[in-house]
Amino acid sequence: MQIEFSGRSVAVTGGGSGIGAATARAFAALGARVGVLDLDEAGAEAVATEIGDAAMAIALDVADAEAVTQALDRLAEVQGGLDVLVSNAGILRAYTMDDMGPQDWARVLATNLSGPFHCLHAALPHLRASAQAGRGPAVINVASTTAKSISRHGGIDYTASKSGILGLTRHAAYELGPSGIRVVTVCPGPTLTSMVAAHNTEERLAATARMIPLGRWVQPEEIADVILFFASRHAAMCTGTCIEVDGGSLISNGVAHDDYLQRRGG
Ligand SMILES: NC(=O)c1ccc[n+]([C@@H]2O[C@H](COP(=O)([O-])OP(=O)(O)OC[C@H]3O[C@@H](n4cnc5c(N)ncnc54)[C@H](O)[C@@H]3O)[C@@H](O)[C@H]2O)c1
Repeated sequence: MQIEFSGRSVAVTGGGSGIGAATARAFAALGARVGVLDLDEAGAEAVATEIGDAAMAIALDVADAEAVTQALDRLAEVQGGLDVLVSNAGILRAYTMDDMGPQDWARVLATNLSGPFHCLHAALPHLRASAQAGRGPAVINVASTTAKSISRHGGIDYTASKSGILGLTRHAAYELGPSGIRVVTVCPGPTLTSMVAAHNTEERLAATARMIPLGRWVQPEEIADVILFFASRHAAMCTGTCIEVDGGSLISNGVAHDDYLQRRGG
């Protein structure tokens, strides 16, 4: 299987850090032109500069529909269209319902769920043009295994927003199928990025690793690999679906592997 994106135009939201940065680098390494879109202008600039001529940085807030439209139109103008949208930008806040207010809920939902909708909506004319040109457009939404369980680190808003992405993906995939635009979700499990580092001690990182059947945290590049697969022609018949990239953490049901063995005399 050979994957390459020569001549393809890609937009990655949250591209200035973690999974988004790894994804932007990986697309560029396989020949794509990449828009690195992020609220953190310096982060986006740093990743785009590191990639070189194939990348451009754009500062935007995905919660702002108008800003998203302007950014994607500009990107499509510079890069000669838009073939792949990776909606990856997301935020997580650690609190219980007692400690949060309506404005917290609104901000997390605006970023994590409305953001991917604004991006998809703004990208549609460009993705339709890509489909008409036979370039196999795809939208990859980054949710979380939280979408099928609950968030270990974040609040109820994070869980709800990530679950919502699965519905957004299903519905968009159905509506857009006849247009030749595929829409899928990648659900990362525990992945070592700054989002995680901000909410964990070394001890907690190790405790989480014990609950991952494959025995370690996922690396951002391993999420990028699956995003690239979904964007490629090898996933030409995948739409409305989701792949978990989590080392098996979802199936572990929170059971640490050493505990599992101890209870069986191991
Ligand atoms: N790291 C994990 O364990 C994990 C697990 C499951 C899902 N995810 C999801 O993966 C995605 C990437 O997470 P990460 O771990 O790389 O986090 P990260 O914090 O390293 O990167 C997120 C990026 O999104 C940007 N961003 C935040 N709000 C934005 C906004 N309103 N508009 C534009 N950009 C914005 C940030 O500036 C940052 O650069 C997120 O959607 C996250 O929920 C991460």
